[in-house]
Amino acid sequence: MEKSPESEDKTVLIDGRQYRFTDQLTVLQALSKAGYKISHFPEEGRVYAPCRTGGCWSCTVLVDGALKPSCVTPLKDGMEIITDRKVIEAMPPLRQIAAVKAHPVGGVGTPHTLRKKYQLASGKPYYTEVGAFTQGCILRCPTCQNWPYTYSSRGTPLTPERAAEIIDSKAREFNLKRIAFTGGESTINRRWLVEVLKNLKTLNPDGINLHVDTNGALLTPDYIEQLIAAGMTDIGVDLKASRLETYQKVTGIKHPAFSRRLFEQSWAGVEYLLKNCAGRIFVGLGIVYNRSLVPLEEVKEIAGRIIELNPSVQVCLLDYRPEFRQRDIIQPSTGEMLDIWKTLKKMGLECVLCQTTAGYYGP
Ligand code: FES
Repeated sequence: MEKSPESEDKTVLIDGRQYRFTDQLTVLQALSKAGYKISHFPEEGRVYAPCRTGGCWSCTVLVDGALKPSCVTPLKDGMEIITDRKVIEAMPPLRQIAAVKAHPVGGVGTPHTLRKKYQLASGKPYYTEVGAFTQGCILRCPTCQNWPYTYSSRGTPLTPERAAEIIDSKAREFNLKRIAFTGGESTINRRWLVEVLKNLKTLNPDGINLHVDTNGALLTPDYIEQLIAAGMTDIGVDLKASRLETYQKVTGIKHPAFSRRLFEQSWAGVEYLLKNCAGRIFVGLGIVYNRSLVPLEEVKEIAGRIIELNPSVQVCLLDYRPEFRQRDIIQPSTGEMLDIWKTLKKMGLECVLCQTTAGYYGP
């Protein structure tokens, strides 16, 4: 039988050494077979590949002189691949954005007073911020609420400078001084996010609100401080669970050590934000609710942990709907959401918003 081009021998150069492969592989898989260490986390001496769907461009290597996302680039005979971070980081980072558009209500890290304005303007066009929907995510939530943006991984990758120009011009078109990075997961390409924030700050010397919407899984204290220094003024973190088993169910990450690290880092990031940053930037938290994923008892546990840290932080209760690969759950009714909203307020949370099928309630 004739061999397909994909199964033919491929001889490639990786960092100056010759390797031969016979399987159909991506560049990232070839690097792994060649003995390179691959990691979901940015770690010294490892190829950092958090999304593995071609959206974040963190796994970028040089292929025949051009930057390519190694996780989705097919290995071809004769390729020359360079993984040296110094060489790669001498060039601007790249990232794909699925959409840039004006958003009426904003996200978890949008102050509730702005949402209220939207409600008061009901019937007239009113927008709170421009959202940039970055592609790629480190999580695999079966109920991903934004999956067409998260996993589409199509389009032209943008430098921070070009991305900032596009986003800024959209904000000017709608006369908005507020920009949100959402996704997908905006934080998984750190160099790109920090640089795009800096560029937006430079383009708006009279001030602009820059909001980062995140699952918090990579929020280390030094990263948070770097984002603030770069211009981040608001942050919203979705808390998926208070128990590891639930976190694994909601995020689709079952590997024990991997899921534990993501889970613990997200709570540690929230703790750092509430203890050290609440006076410097706006912090909002999201609590996910759907009785098939996160039961009421666990929602109360999450609220209890938040109250211990800071009872006045803005909390948004999110009604998870059937989406993506999990269509068999039922979206909570407005009445069910309002009952939980009242419970959280009675527990001592001072600023609770509630997302329902009938719109936003509270605080
Ligand atoms: S890990 Fe390859 S693009 Fe995100």
